Amino acid sequence: MEQIQVKTETKSYPVLIGDGVIDQLQQVLEERVRDCSRILIISDSNVAPLYLDEVKSKLSGYQVNEWVIPAGETSKSIREYEKGITYALRCQLDRQACIIALGGGVVGDLAGFIASTYLRGIRFIQVPTTLLAHDSSVGGKVGINHTSGKNLIGAFHQPEAVLYDIHFLKTLPKKEWRSGFAEIVKLALIRDPDFYDYLEENVRSLPIEDEILTDIVKKAISIKAEIVGQDEREAGIRAYLNFGHTLGHAIEAESRYQSITHGEAVMIGMIFAMKLSEEHFKTKVFPEGFFTWVHQLGYSDWHATLNKGGLLLETMKKDKKSQENKIRMVLLKNCGDVILQTVEDSILTAELASYRTWLKTIAADRVAEK
Ligand code: NAD
Ligand code: GLY
Repeated sequence: MEQIQVKTETKSYPVLIGDGVIDQLQQVLEERVRDCSRILIISDSNVAPLYLDEVKSKLSGYQVNEWVIPAGETSKSIREYEKGITYALRCQLDRQACIIALGGGVVGDLAGFIASTYLRGIRFIQVPTTLLAHDSSVGGKVGINHTSGKNLIGAFHQPEAVLYDIHFLKTLPKKEWRSGFAEIVKLALIRDPDFYDYLEENVRSLPIEDEILTDIVKKAISIKAEIVGQDEREAGIRAYLNFGHTLGHAIEAESRYQSITHGEAVMIGMIFAMKLSEEHFKTKVFPEGFFTWVHQLGYSDWHATLNKGGLLLETMKKDKKSQENKIRMVLLKNCGDVILQTVEDSILTAELASYRTWLKTIAADRVAEK
């Protein structure tokens, strides 16, 4: 088992990583959630049939309630949030209660937001079950979507602990591996060129092989923990974690969160941000062989996805980094060298048009190669 300590201004907590760490749940609760009166496990309709009983079997001596939400991004809604609060009230959760979020980023964000607001805040534990949740379960950003855009309603509320059991990933669909791996590539690109080289050399297909999975997740979480430790409330460098997200979130919103996963949209957004960076700073930003690598890993259909977007620029403006209706993008001067930069609408409009054409050329090249 591996352990990372996340140290923020408001809380310090452990992230346990490895095969079988769910066995530590009872002990973690006893140590980290003292005098816990009742537990509410929140999970989703895909994860609950697979793992809810297993998680419950690790708990003894607690009164446990469970609430299962429909799987998928649309559950990060005001409606589902209200249902969750109503259910917690019906279960008579008091201020000593604890919520366990068992699932991917959707469950973690919604359950964490319920925990952050119910009775002005109760304790919660993250039990992530997706690769992507190496990111979402750490750092205390919790929230839901508004019909106008992603994560527009939320809070900072750190969990008491994160139990990242690698064995939950065994049932993860391939596209969810791609979604999560895009966020790992992101962390490497913004923070650690050596880690990027390691990934490029060792991850040649998805799922990631068991032998290197724990190490990769541990490294990714330690990068995230380091950033969050320096800037819990995104006053500075935490915004760099948004690399690829300005366009990525807009693509997700315009696809109504149906046809593309979060990480796949972020991959398209990262490529756009790198292309823009190269033009802006006149430096080489794309690592050698980047496209061949990510294409081999199964990231494709870029131009088809982007072409579905109509109002992208307007949707991009809803990004939380925007100031005075101007889009601010996370750009790279080099691998590991990041800057937050205001980009004029006219430049973005032109770049989006040229990006569409460019992606089409790449897609045509791939077809020709086959
Ligand atoms: P998700 O929670 O929707 O999970 C993806 C799919 O996989 C769902 O259908 C889910 O039911 C299924 N699933 C989950 N675990 C499984 C398992 N072990 N076996 C089989 N199926 C499983 O999505 P996600 O990619 O985990 O998270 C995306 C969300 O996370 C987005 O809403 C994004 O905004 C958010 N996010 C938050 C942060 C943060 O810091 N709070 C960071 C990154 C992303
Ligand atoms: N995933 C973005 C953040 O945690 O800040």
